[in-house]
Amino acid sequence: MSERATRRYLVRPARRVEGTLSVPGDKSISHRALMLGGIAEGRTDISGFLASEDCLATLTALRALGVEIERRNEIELSVQGAGRRGLRAAADRLDMGNAGTAMRLFMGLLAGQPFDSTLIGDASLMRRPMERVAQPLRSMGASIRTHEGRPPVQIQAVSKLVAIDYTLPVASAQVKSALLLAALRAHGRTSVTEPAPTRDHTERMLRGFGVDVTREGARVSLMGGARLSGCPVKVPGDFSSAAFFIVAGCLGAPDGLTLRGVGINPTRTGLLELLKLMGADIEVEPQGSDGAEPIADIHVRASALAGIRVPEALVPLAIDEFPVFFIAAAAARGETLVTAAGELRVKESDRLAVMADGLTRLGIECELLADGLRVAGGTMGGGRIDSHGDHRIAMAFAIASLIAREPIEIEDVANVATSFPGFADLARRAGLALSEQA
Ligand code: S3P
Repeated sequence: MSERATRRYLVRPARRVEGTLSVPGDKSISHRALMLGGIAEGRTDISGFLASEDCLATLTALRALGVEIERRNEIELSVQGAGRRGLRAAADRLDMGNAGTAMRLFMGLLAGQPFDSTLIGDASLMRRPMERVAQPLRSMGASIRTHEGRPPVQIQAVSKLVAIDYTLPVASAQVKSALLLAALRAHGRTSVTEPAPTRDHTERMLRGFGVDVTREGARVSLMGGARLSGCPVKVPGDFSSAAFFIVAGCLGAPDGLTLRGVGINPTRTGLLELLKLMGADIEVEPQGSDGAEPIADIHVRASALAGIRVPEALVPLAIDEFPVFFIAAAAARGETLVTAAGELRVKESDRLAVMADGLTRLGIECELLADGLRVAGGTMGGGRIDSHGDHRIAMAFAIASLIAREPIEIEDVANVATSFPGFADLARRAGLALSEQA
């Protein structure tokens, strides 16, 4: 059954997972490869592309802006770059679906263009904060309107942008990336300083396209006016998708579980550090790099986990992995405490509240904090979970079936298609007893 047609997962308790798995391509990198390819001179061949709904929203929007994209097959495509001045006004509003990354990065890409654009999304995206991008873009000279801080985002034509020197108030790769994309069209040198390291795929990929991006400590800079040259981009397996199976392996793989070809950019792999602090048995076997991004095979074996206090510096490096990390916390001996994670409240759902609610329903004691969660490891029962349309919540509770004593029903799971097509099949292949219901 296709992910989009699936409304509910029924997962019966499973005791073990095993095997060697590959996860689909990285979502963050797939969005960026399309966008940079779209504004480059010449052709960009992308392999390992993630053909998920989020990335296809970016693809459709770029086509609407005049970029030619040929899909050779599910994971290979070829982008004929429109060049620095080649994007054209779209005939209609650009629909980003569920994709926050697409919306925020397009804000940067479209802010300095000589035509108007309007960005919309699904019900979840229409609730998410956009001023964090709009404000600094306005100080570069962009003309942007949001609706009480949220989409629709209306971007008006401007004749020029000016460089800024900006310190991000929150650690956000989306905001940093949006500003770097706008900086390509600005006069002068733009610098963005981050309060803590966040994923640096944009910087790495821009360098691959020939842009001189410099970094001094926490400050990333580039000079406006650079030309991008199309180049091949190989997209590694998505660490954030592998994360579900890494935790599954920690909970239920006495004979081990291997994930092949996973991107291990150090700005993404905070979950590995967290699980190791809990006593996980994980081995990372480097496999060189797929162009700008390091990859590895990751071997995981079940072990007893102990609760930890999550170091705050690791939070941005594991930001998308907290739903499944909380499942590991529920399985651990003792208490796990996460703080400085208020950003989780403005993801595809309020991931702190939704995880606290789901864990409580399954009999796990937890305390919701303003910026985090306290989880007491314990015995998990079964029950019905509302994922609130959040793909990562749905997948996290599927993994919980390795420690639950009763079946778990997970509602509202169609959005798994936004990031991880094929999740249900792969989960069954690993050993989970997951069935999909329309
Ligand atoms: C992303 C950055 C993160 C992350 C999101 C993808 C990106 O968002 O949660 O899933 O590709 O830049 P924030 O920048 O809001 O932290």
